[in-house]
This record gives sequence, structure tokens and C-alpha cells, in this order.
Amino acid sequence: MFKVIAYGLLLVCLLVYCAYQAIINRSKISGFIEYVTPPKYSPNNPKVSTVSKKYITPRINNATEIIDFNRDFPVPSLPFRLDDTDLLKAEELTCEPESFGYSREKGELVFPEYIYPKCSQVNNQNDTRLKINDGFLYMDCPGKFKGRYVTGPVNSQKLATQDELYDLWEVHDYKKPAKLSENTEFAIGSCEENPTKTYKEAYMTPNFNEPAYKEAKQKVTGKPKIIFLLTLDSVSRRHFFRKLPKTIEYLNGLNRKDEYFVFDFKLHNILGATSVGNQVPIFGEKEKYNEDYGGSKNIDYIGETALWNILREHGYISLIGLENCDNYFPKSLGRIPHADYVINPFYCAVYKYTDYKLDIEFALKQRCLGAYMTHYYALNYTYNLAGMNQGVNQFLYLHLNAAHEATGLHAATLDEDLPDYIEKFLTSYGKTHDISIFLGADHGMRYGDWFKELSAYQEHKLPSLFLITNREFLSKFPNAYEALSMNTLRLTSKRDIRKTLLYMAGIDENTEFGVNLMKEISPKARTCKDAGIKPLECSCSQMLPVENPDPEFKHFLTRLQNLVEVTINAQSYASPIHSKGSICQKVYINQIEKAYSLQTSNVEEFIRIEMSVIGHPKVRFQATIFVSSYYSDLLTYSSMRYNSNAEVFRSSRVRSKIINISRLDKYAGKCELIAINAGLRADTCLCTDEVLENS
Ligand SMILES: *[C@@H]1O[C@H](CO)[C@@H](O)[C@H](O)[C@H]1NC(C)=O
Ligand SMILES: *[C@@H]1O[C@H](CO)[C@@H](O)[C@H](O)[C@H]1NC(C)=O
Ligand SMILES: *[C@@H]1O[C@H](CO)[C@@H](O)[C@H](O)[C@H]1NC(C)=O
Ligand SMILES: *[C@@H]1O[C@H](CO)[C@@H](O)[C@H](O)[C@H]1NC(C)=O
Ligand SMILES: *[C@@H]1O[C@H](CO)[C@@H](O)[C@H](O)[C@H]1NC(C)=O
Repeated sequence: MFKVIAYGLLLVCLLVYCAYQAIINRSKISGFIEYVTPPKYSPNNPKVSTVSKKYITPRINNATEIIDFNRDFPVPSLPFRLDDTDLLKAEELTCEPESFGYSREKGELVFPEYIYPKCSQVNNQNDTRLKINDGFLYMDCPGKFKGRYVTGPVNSQKLATQDELYDLWEVHDYKKPAKLSENTEFAIGSCEENPTKTYKEAYMTPNFNEPAYKEAKQKVTGKPKIIFLLTLDSVSRRHFFRKLPKTIEYLNGLNRKDEYFVFDFKLHNILGATSVGNQVPIFGEKEKYNEDYGGSKNIDYIGETALWNILREHGYISLIGLENCDNYFPKSLGRIPHADYVINPFYCAVYKYTDYKLDIEFALKQRCLGAYMTHYYALNYTYNLAGMNQGVNQFLYLHLNAAHEATGLHAATLDEDLPDYIEKFLTSYGKTHDISIFLGADHGMRYGDWFKELSAYQEHKLPSLFLITNREFLSKFPNAYEALSMNTLRLTSKRDIRKTLLYMAGIDENTEFGVNLMKEISPKARTCKDAGIKPLECSCSQMLPVENPDPEFKHFLTRLQNLVEVTINAQSYASPIHSKGSICQKVYINQIEKAYSLQTSNVEEFIRIEMSVIGHPKVRFQATIFVSSYYSDLLTYSSMRYNSNAEVFRSSRVRSKIINISRLDKYAGKCELIAINAGLRADTCLCTDEVLENS
């Protein structure tokens, strides 16, 4: 009797629990049911396909490679060269990109050499006239006027968007050495009496975090380690070779000497399109990555899986250093990540008081701040930080924005500083610490023709990644040298960096989508999907031309064409912010000129169509559209994206969603400016004749 009641209760509890789970996570339950009994069109029933190719056989990827390091290990080909990606052909990888970016010759045409003068010449000054020393600020202006300055940080925010701090800065007149508040780390100032002149004096120096140092000191064991992620925003591998030749020469030279090894990962694929989409999944769990998490801002959003929090337990102090004051990192990490040092508010002051602008529109403008380039201040800070924390482990993240601009030329300014800087860093700390520097980019550039040419498009997906690490350190890990060397010829991505970096720190994490580059080999059969990379961001997924579509597919393409036409007109001709047709003409699509498709499963596909326009023979629109007959994250509603539409295709309900509409012809000029000034998207606006005449 009791047994029956007990079992009954247990059953009730189980049911309640399941119902509860179902409520909090319906997708999990339905996902499970669909796995067991898949509906007709589902990734779990791959024999039937709703998309253009009717049936696809799923690729069985169970090949495990057994590596005999003594036999199979390829001797790395040195020195590194721009086009030694040809070596990958012999590897017969499943994921083999058709192009690794512009050829050497084409690259030289697109990004001609441009010599930037030294900032000391530009601003005619050899050093900064403002210094912080022992809690005092000193200014040494040459004229009668003694100077003015602002200091920071101004509040408890470690990361901030520009508008959050914009009104908080306080301008002081300099009279005599000024006592600074305890937490002050930087100041920027001006020696010009005219207050509207931009500031040219700056200084930033770390404020020693003694509690963090002491805590680390108690936990550190063995020779202290420095793990340094030196990230250059927007530098593809090929762009690194083109624009940082001295740094390449330095790295090749370093490899010839005895102390360090340098590895050049030739097939390093982005994980996402943006800086945060690539870097935040290194910092934390992939699931914790959110472009803009919303909610309370003064938190450490990624929390306990953040590298700075994990590594603290292993005797590390930490730095998050950003040479910018953009919205991306604050919105993704929260405003108070628990790193011991953060560089960011300095650049918010720089945005406000100097003529330095990060926006990619400011072409060919050198980013000088007094006698130095803006990135110099972040580099110098990091060098000094490492100096004051000697003897404990250090996790240093630095994100430099020199290459984040429209021309693709400014990256060259990094080449002036990097070789000396790395050399100085290794010389100063390399004897007493095991140093590993991950020198590379978040993603490649995305400017110019990146949407129109395959090679330009590929550069965005293939950022640079070099690893510099000392030989003695590497010898402590069995076969690490061999594994790293082999992995330079395999598909790698951002999650591998996380896993490898943690392994260096003595932590074995089961990082989702990650390969430990020092211990495992990224398999030849590894696909973008295996590395957590989405199809559109994958350097080896190809959009294939659609040839001879069957009538049903043709009909479907026409419906997509209509959808694009409606969308273009809704955002320009009939935009809600102006009376209809007052600025842009109504667009009538003539026909589809070319169509491409990228099938990613039997229920999902990307379609790209190029269209001509009636009455405007030169105009070409291109749209990328996602089509799915199954649930997909890409279809979820977001106010930042286009809506999805229900359709019927091959007798099945599908949803299609425009990912992007862009222009293939050059549309820059008068109409572009009119549209931008009117708050409209320039690439979908064909100005009316009246507007063009009257402007
Ligand atoms: C539900 O499960 C799915 C798939 O396992 C997961 O992506 C999602 O985050 C879960 N949601 C909640 C509220 O737990
Ligand atoms: C891989 O999968 C195929 C097909 O399911 C099977 O025949 C083969 O034995 C598998 N190989 C290994 C190494 O598991
Ligand atoms: C900067 O240094 C150079 C070389 O040492 C010198 O020729 C120049 O006059 C200095 N400029 C200023 C503004 O002091
Ligand atoms: C850079 O750091 C050094 C100390 O290593 C310091 O003497 C120098 O003033 C710093 N320069 C700037 C511009 O911050
Ligand atoms: C769409 O294309 C335009 C022009 O090529 C580009 O600037 C924009 O970033 C793209 N948007 C997305 C979401 O990819």
C-alpha cells in the first residue's frame, strides 16, 4: 500500500517536473521529440529536402585521425610568406577555401603603399607635456598659458559607451602640480589658451592594484606566466603580410633564434562577423555571448566562465584593454567586468577632446595624439602594467583599432611600433616569465569591395593569428610543438584560442567547438560547423551559381525578387519619415541577372540574387535571403533585422528572410549625400530628378 502511494507520489512529482521543464524550455522538449520521431522536413530526416537540390546525403564525419608525431609531423615551412597558404592544398582538408584573399599583386593595387609621417613631426613635439607621477599631475606648457586638463576614470564604470561619460568630464585649469585622487589613471590636456582647440597632451599609467597582486602571489606556482592576447582589429592574414612587413620580418627572425617559436595559423576562420562576435566567445562560454544583453548594465555579464574570473583562481592578474570607446564591448560584457585593470574610459575622453575619430569614414587621417599614435598609450600602459606585476601570472588582453578604418592603409602605422614593442616586452619579461603572445585579429577588413568580390569577401573571414611562445615553456607539454605546427595547416577558429589558452594555464576545459591546439589536431575533416562557425561566415562554404532552375524554383526566385522590391521601396521610396516619393523614386526590379545558392542542410539554404532595375541600366541590387522549412535561430524576430515571411515551396511551408540588400554598382555621390542627410539608407535610394536638380 505504502509502496503504491510512494510510487504514485514519485510519478506525480516527475510529471510536475516535466511540465515545469516544458514550460521553461519548450524547445528542448520538442527538440527531443523531433529527434525521436522527425517530421517529414527536418534536419533529423535528412533524406527529404525542401531546398533547391532535392535530396542530399548527410556527410558522415566520423574520421578520427591517429597521428604519429615522429612520422607524420611536417617540418614547418619558414619563413612565413603571404601565399604559403598553397601548402594547404596538400593537406586535402574538407574545408578548403577557394581563395585566401587578394593575391600579392592585386593587394598592392587595392592597398597602395602610403607612408604616414611620425606623430612627432605631425604635431611638432617630441614628448607629451603632461605627466602623472606619484599621484601628482604635471604640465609643462611652452608658452605663457599653463594648460588645462581632464582626468579619469570619472565613475565606477570600467567600460563605457561614449554617451555614458560624455557629460561627466571636468575641465581644470593647470596652475601647479595637482594632487590627483587615488584611482586616477590618466589625464588629457591642452597647452592652447583657446578652449575650443583640440587637446594634444595625454598620459595614462596603471594604478597598481595591490590586493589583486597579493591574491595572485599566494596562488601562483612555478615560473610565472604571461598570456597576452594582442588583438589588431580588422587585419586579415594577407593584410598583415601586406601592411606589417617589418613585423613579419621580426617574427621570421625570432623563429631563427633559440628562445621563441612563432606559429602562423594559415587557416584561421572568424566565428562571427563583428569584433565582439569573435572575441567575447574567447572570453566566456559561447552561450554567454550576446551582442547586447539588455538589462542591468553595471555587471560582469559573462560572469564565472570569463577568463579573468577563471584565471584569478590560478594566480593571474588580468587586463581588458580597448583602444576605443565604442558601444560593442560594453554592451556585450557589461560595464563592470571583474578584470583587475581596464583600458577604455581614456579613449572616451580622447573621443571627446581630441580630433581623433575612430569612425571608418575618416579616411587617411592619421591617429596622432601629441607625439604618439593613439595606440601607443595602450601599449605603453600594458608594458608598464606587466612590469609592476612581475612575479605573478598575467592575462593581458589588448585590442588595438589602428586598422579599423575605411582605406585599409592605416594598419601600416602599427608596423612602426609593433616589432620594437614585442622585442622590448620579451627582453624585459621573457627571462623571468613564460610568455605566450597570441598576435592576431578579430576578423579581416570589411571595406571596399568586400561584398562584391570573392577574394575581398574571403579576407573578412580569414583573420591573422600568430602565436609567439617560448621554447622552454612549450617543452613542458608533450608534443605541443608538433601539434601547434600541424594545426597551422588546419582549420582553426576562436574557440580553439580559448581552449589552448586555458590549457597553457593548466586548465583542461571541455570547450564547446574548441580544439586544444597544443595537444589535439584539428582533423582534416573538420568543417565550419564542427568549429561553431555559421555558413555565411565560413571561408570554405561556397555560394554556387543556380543553373537551370526547375520551374518551381524559378517561380520561388521570382517571389523573392518581389519581396526584395517591396523591401527596398519600403525603406526608401515609402519611408515613414518623408512623404512618399519626395526623395527616392519607386524601384521596379527588371529581372534577376544571377542567382547563387548555399545549401547548409536539407531544410536550410541561403540564396543570393543580383537584380537589374527598370529605367536604370547601371543599377544592380544584390540581396542575400535565408530560406528555411524548419525552426532556426536566424528566423527569430529582432528589431535590427528584416522580418521573415511565410511561403510555400515544394508543397511545404517555408520562411524566408532577407539578410542583406546591397548595391553592386558604385552609387557614391550626390544622391548618396542627399539620402544620408535625409536619414535614409543611401544604397536603396534612387533619387528623384527634382531632388537632384534642387540640391
Ligand atoms: C532550452 O534548450 C535549448 C536547447 O537545448 C537551449 O538553447 C535554450 O537556451 C534553453 N532555454 C532555457 C530557457 O533553458
Ligand atoms: C564511420 O561510419 C561508417 C558509416 O556509418 C561506418 O561504416 C564506419 O565503420 C565508421 N567508422 C568509424 C571509424 O567509426
Ligand atoms: C625633436 O627632436 C629632434 C631630434 O632629436 C629635434 O631635431 C627637434 O628639434 C625636436 N623638436 C622639438 C619640437 O623639440
Ligand atoms: C611610457 O612608459 C614609460 C615607462 O616605461 C614612461 O617613462 C613614459 O613617460 C611613458 N610614455 C607615455 C607617453 O606615456
Ligand atoms: C549589408 O551590406 C552592406 C553593404 O555591402 C554592408 O555595409 C552591411 O554591413 C551588410 N549588412 C549585414 C547585416 O551583413
